[in-house]
Amino acid sequence: MNLQNLAYALDQSIHNLGAVAVTAGAVAAIFSKEKRRYAWLVLTGWAVQGATGALFGIISYSFYGHLPDIGGIAVDALVIKMICAVSGFAIAALYLWKSGSWGEKAKKGAWHALATFAFVAITSAAFLRWFS
Ligand code: HEM
Repeated sequence: MNLQNLAYALDQSIHNLGAVAVTAGAVAAIFSKEKRRYAWLVLTGWAVQGATGALFGIISYSFYGHLPDIGGIAVDALVIKMICAVSGFAIAALYLWKSGSWGEKAKKGAWHALATFAFVAITSAAFLRWFS
């Protein structure tokens, strides 16, 4: 078995689960009363996305000695995903830390922003995949 493919496949499996957590978690929270539980799920999901995303680069580097050779739209898509991951993590963390003193409008806005970042990131993933 090719060790590099195995490493990519295992990393991708966890990356895919992270994508499900941030997307489904944010949408489910909008319709649920258990919002804090979902906030933990979504926070963990964004952290997993950042870590497994970075691991793709580490795997490439350790097998080839350099990062994947991508440019143009693929780089734009990757940067958008990174911005989404940082923003999503920050909003979920802020929600868990401060939302006790927020009004309903701010809480609703936070969940809509989290769902939007998840959808933008998932859409960018498709562009990264097919333009690289
Ligand atoms: C720091 C943030 C991230 C980095 C560095 C990153 C990096 C990557 C890389 C290198 C790939 C493999 C692309 C390829 O097959 O050519 C990938 C795939 C993927 N990523 Fe990310 N990612 C990040 C965040 C996210 C987020 C936030 C989501 C979703 C919410 C996401 C969803 C996906 C999906 C669904 C794939 C599989 C695409 C496919 O093969 O069709 N990623 N990511």
